[in-house]
Amino acid sequence: VKQVEYTITTIPGLESEASKEISNLNGKVLNEGSGFVRFTIHPFEIPNILSQSRVILRVLEPIIEGEYTSLKELIHRCSLIDWSRFLQPKNTFKIDLVGRTALAANQYMVLAVKDVLVDSLKRKYGIRPSIDTRNPDQLFILFVNNTHCTIYRDAAGVPLNQRGYRTKSLEAPINEVIAAGLLSFLGWNGTGLFIDPMCGSGTIPLEALSKSMNLYSQIHRTKGFALDRWPDRKNYGLKQGTTTGKLNQTLSQQSILLSNPKPWRIIGADKNPDVKPIVAHNITQLLTPYDIKQPDDFSLEIEHFEYLHANPVVKEARLWAQKNDLPTMVCFNPPYDQRMAVEDIREFYKFIGDTLKQQWKHSLVGIISGSVEGIKHIGLRAQRKIHIKNGPIDTRFHIFSIH
Ligand SMILES: C[S@@+](CC[C@H](N)C(=O)[O-])C[C@H]1O[C@@H](n2cnc3c(N)ncnc32)[C@H](O)[C@@H]1O
Repeated sequence: VKQVEYTITTIPGLESEASKEISNLNGKVLNEGSGFVRFTIHPFEIPNILSQSRVILRVLEPIIEGEYTSLKELIHRCSLIDWSRFLQPKNTFKIDLVGRTALAANQYMVLAVKDVLVDSLKRKYGIRPSIDTRNPDQLFILFVNNTHCTIYRDAAGVPLNQRGYRTKSLEAPINEVIAAGLLSFLGWNGTGLFIDPMCGSGTIPLEALSKSMNLYSQIHRTKGFALDRWPDRKNYGLKQGTTTGKLNQTLSQQSILLSNPKPWRIIGADKNPDVKPIVAHNITQLLTPYDIKQPDDFSLEIEHFEYLHANPVVKEARLWAQKNDLPTMVCFNPPYDQRMAVEDIREFYKFIGDTLKQQWKHSLVGIISGSVEGIKHIGLRAQRKIHIKNGPIDTRFHIFSIH
C-alpha cells in the first residue's frame, strides 16, 4: 500500500500524545517538533484520523516542499502546479503564513502565492476563486524560513478542537484538545472513576465521557471537513455523495454498539450552580447524534471542593471503584484569576493540596494551571510535570499520586 507523508499540528506539549494517537490509528510516526508530528499513512486512513483523533488540531498534506533561494524561484515552482487539483473554483480559500524569511515580507509572499493560485484556476475554469479570511472552505499554510518553504493544504477546516458539542460555556473553558491531552497523560482509557471537581462548562468530564462511550470526536461538525471539499477526495476513500462526517457517524454508531460496555463513572462538580444548565446542554449536544440520553453513570454535583468527598454520589462511586479494583482519577483546572492577589492564590492552592492529601487518598490527580506561584503551594510532590503552551499562556500539568 502506498504510504503518504502528512503533518499534524497540535498544542505544544501534547506532541507525545498526538503521536500515540497517530500510531493507534495506523500511522507511522517519523518525528515530532514543537506543535507538530510528521508521519506516513495510507490516504484512506485520513478520514479516520480526522474523525477520531482527540489531541490533533489540523492534518496537513504537503503540496510543495524544498529549498529556495528567492521569492521568484518559489513563485516559479508554484506556477508549475495545476492548482485546480487542490481547490474547486466555487470554494473559498485562505493562505496562512507561518515563520519568517529574509527573502520577502510575509504579506508579500502570501499575495504572490495567492495570485499564482487564482490565475491557475482562472485559466482552467474562467472563474476566480474568492478569499475568505474568517471561515474558508480550504486553508493553505505556507511554512517558511530563509532556506526552506513548504506549502500544505489542511484537511481539517475548522480546527479539530472545535468539536461542535460545546455550544454553551462559562468562564475560561479549557480547549477541548488540551482536555483530551490531559486525559491521555493521566492514562484515562475510559474505565474507572473520573472526577472533575471544578468542571465549569464540563469540557474535561465530557471529553472523558466521549472516551468511555467510544464516541468519535468529530461527528458534531456542521461544516464537515475541508477534505470533503477536496477535488481529489476519492483518493481518500470518499465516494460521491459521502462525506467524512456521514461516513463516520455510521461507523461511530457501530463502534458504540460493538464495544463491550466498559465499567465507568464520571462526575463533574462545581461550586457554582450556574454550571448546571450549561453542562446539561453540552451533554445533550454531545449525545444527540446518537439519540442517547444522559447515561446514569454520568452525574453533575453542585458542591464546594472542600465537601465533595462527603457527597453521597461521590462516596458511593469511590467505593464502587475500590471494590472493583478500578482507578480513580481526579482532573481539573482550578480558576486562575489574574486579579487574585498572590497571597490569595497561595492560600487557594494550599487549600487544594490539603484537601487532596486529607480526603482524596488512593487517587491519581491531574491539575493544569497557568499559575506557577499557585502550583508551588499545593505542597505535594508531582510524579510528572508537563509544560503545555496554550497560545500565549504557559501552563503546567502536574500529576500527583495520592497515597
Ligand atoms: C477555569 S474554570 C474551569 C473551566 C472548565 N474546565 C471548562 O472547561 O469550562 C474554574 C471553575 O472552578 C470553579 N471553582 C472555583 N473554586 C471552587 C471550589 N472551591 N469548589 C468547586 N469549584 C470551584 C469555578 O466555579 C469555575 O467554574
